[in-house]
Amino acid sequence: MSGSLLYAPRDCRILAVETLTPDEKLFRVSMADGLSLGHLPGQFVQVSLMGWGEAPISVASSPTRGPGFELGVRKAGSLTGALHDLKAGCCIGIRGPFGTPFDLEAMSGRDLLLISGGCGLAPMRSLIQYCQDHPEKFGRVTILYGARSPEQIMFRDEIAAWEASPVFACSHTVDSAEGGGCYDGAIGLITSLVEPLRIAAGRTTAVVVGPPVMYRAVIEVLTRKGLASRDIVVSLERQMRCGVGKCGHCAIDHLLCCKDGPVFRLDQIEHIPGAL
Ligand SMILES: Cc1cc2nc3c(=O)[nH]c(=O)nc-3n(C[C@H](O)[C@H](O)[C@H](O)COP(=O)(O)OP(=O)(O)OC[C@H]3O[C@@H](n4cnc5c(N)ncnc54)[C@H](O)[C@@H]3O)c2cc1C
Ligand code: FES
Repeated sequence: MSGSLLYAPRDCRILAVETLTPDEKLFRVSMADGLSLGHLPGQFVQVSLMGWGEAPISVASSPTRGPGFELGVRKAGSLTGALHDLKAGCCIGIRGPFGTPFDLEAMSGRDLLLISGGCGLAPMRSLIQYCQDHPEKFGRVTILYGARSPEQIMFRDEIAAWEASPVFACSHTVDSAEGGGCYDGAIGLITSLVEPLRIAAGRTTAVVVGPPVMYRAVIEVLTRKGLASRDIVVSLERQMRCGVGKCGHCAIDHLLCCKDGPVFRLDQIEHIPGAL
């Protein structure tokens, strides 16, 4: 990507907005110039809105579902709050795609265990859709998802479709269903879905994306089940500014989350205090 493309936002139009949960919306967008974004699953873009600044947001759709792309955005503060007020037809700026993608070549032919929590299902969805569109490239694909409560479950209809699909083994759970109305699914932490799994350690890659508290617990179970650190992949979040490895704002020791990550193999970061 040339220097000007690194820093200059490209105009994008919002094609559709869908409410996913009380805190999260899905934006379908397309480049105003009609070109595709050119991303790979796991990469992020810097989303900007005049007067509100920029925020890194993972691409939530697979490149196989183009030419447009989707962003799942949690209302967290000023920029994401302003995004939530936008409707179809509005314009936003996009820089990117940036960062490391999931290593699809290294995952080829292997069983995949895709574990996400909360908003982590947004970046994971890009990989899930890719697997759905290229089932011949992977072994058995297992999807596990945990949300805090029934109302916080993202992509509800798609989860139901993945659970019914012969391509995947898929389950979800919620931490607590108090006030959850007619929810009749599993209740418990995401680790309760990982514990009973029989994992063929030598031929499985686990991908874990979620809130920081989830990583330690899930990785402990995976390690106990024999998965090596090189076969566990995580996606990390840090506060960012440039998004392209220039400002040092997102440093994790000697690594830059925006350029060396956000996708890391566990063996790249496990020795760095505070990385997870
Ligand atoms: C690689 C990457 C991918 C991301 N993907 C997504 C995504 O797909 N969907 C999504 O909703 N969010 C995603 N985020 C988080 C998102 O970037 C932040 O929520 C956003 O920057 C907040 O901006 P704001 O202006 O709305 O909030 P602000 O008003 O700037 O801040 C609100 C609060 O959020 C905190 N905050 C700001 N940035 C971050 C951050 N990066 N991590 C943790 N806390 C932060 C601030 O300290 C403050 O407490 C991602 C972050 C990274 C680094
Ligand atoms: S955000 Fe500037 S170096 Fe990563």
